[in-house]
Amino acid sequence: MIEQKFRQIFGSSPEVVVRAPGRVNLIGEHTDYNDGFVLPAAIDRAITYAGRRRAHRHVRAYSNDFQASVEFDLDDIQKAGENTWSNFLRGVSKFLEADGHRLVGADIAFGGDVPREAGLSSSAAVEVGATAFWNKLLGLGLDPVYVVKLSRRTENEFVGVPCGIMDQFISALGRRDHALFLDCRDLTYRHVPLRADVKIVVCNSGVKRALAQSEYEVRLKQCREAVEKIAAGTGRTVKSLRDVQPSDIEAAKSTMDNLLWRRAHHVVSENERTLEAVEVLQGGNVERFGELMNQSHESLRDDYEVSSKELDTLVVLARQQRGILGARMTGAGFGGCTVNLVRADAAESFAQAVADGYEKVVGLKSETYVCQASDGALISA
Ligand code: GLA
Repeated sequence: MIEQKFRQIFGSSPEVVVRAPGRVNLIGEHTDYNDGFVLPAAIDRAITYAGRRRAHRHVRAYSNDFQASVEFDLDDIQKAGENTWSNFLRGVSKFLEADGHRLVGADIAFGGDVPREAGLSSSAAVEVGATAFWNKLLGLGLDPVYVVKLSRRTENEFVGVPCGIMDQFISALGRRDHALFLDCRDLTYRHVPLRADVKIVVCNSGVKRALAQSEYEVRLKQCREAVEKIAAGTGRTVKSLRDVQPSDIEAAKSTMDNLLWRRAHHVVSENERTLEAVEVLQGGNVERFGELMNQSHESLRDDYEVSSKELDTLVVLARQQRGILGARMTGAGFGGCTVNLVRADAAESFAQAVADGYEKVVGLKSETYVCQASDGALISA
């Protein structure tokens, strides 16, 4: 599809094609920027890059999703005020050059089917896709974790969104039929197999994540503040909420403002839930895994306060259906999607029933996707 578009726009075949998937997080929400644990899976929706070298240092890029083109000079890469979709590619190119990787001009077409602003990390897919594209086109032999870090740096420093590392990590290093357990402190990871008799079903609330960025920044600050307060109380080195034990958080209850305490409590309890979730998934106990997903949602709703009326409705509807094991909001929150673990034989009817129920209650259409965990950009490349 993108290859064909490339031929149509640039008049020849691409030299390389690279595919970077979106993601859904199964559990471990708002823990990555607290040095904690996450368990996402790459989904079978992706951004594909097709491209070919040119003789000089100009990049021509076509976005199939925006049906628009830009051109920029590798010797003078600036952030664009218009066609802001091109900033991911510009930022990645700028930082690669700054790190001493000499790029060459290229014709590039890209696009895909990861819904935008739905909490499925289309931005991370665009960034990781761009980095992986240059890596493959020029045979740079980049270390996979370097690809992840450079893609995240683009989002933080060039695009200006203060995200953690989860989304770029899974887009690069996800594996088919597996979730990825990542320790966001030391970036060690392992793939955990998903059972064939359960499916991951994503339900899109259709509500864009309007408040997500400003509230995300507020949560970041609150977590830092909570760390300072708790560190003062424990007398141990507490660098992040990762270092806070469940017993510390209980002990800190009377010493802190309740709102700050609830924020910290979510993160500390979510890390515990994620560790248990990995263990039970490995042992095949999907029932317990589902319970932990349910608890994660309650914690995000009540302690961290990043859910929404629509997400809560999707979760309530999900839990009424046959075959459901667990349901929770996924991603930053304030709109976007829920993730559901459903018995495989009930997955299609589940998706339909939730979509119908949601339309009746909320008056909005919910797109639902029965997902297949997929390979990341660096796995399939
Ligand atoms: C967004 C960010 C991630 C992570 C999640 C919440 O997706 O990009 O880094 O913080 O929110 O878990």
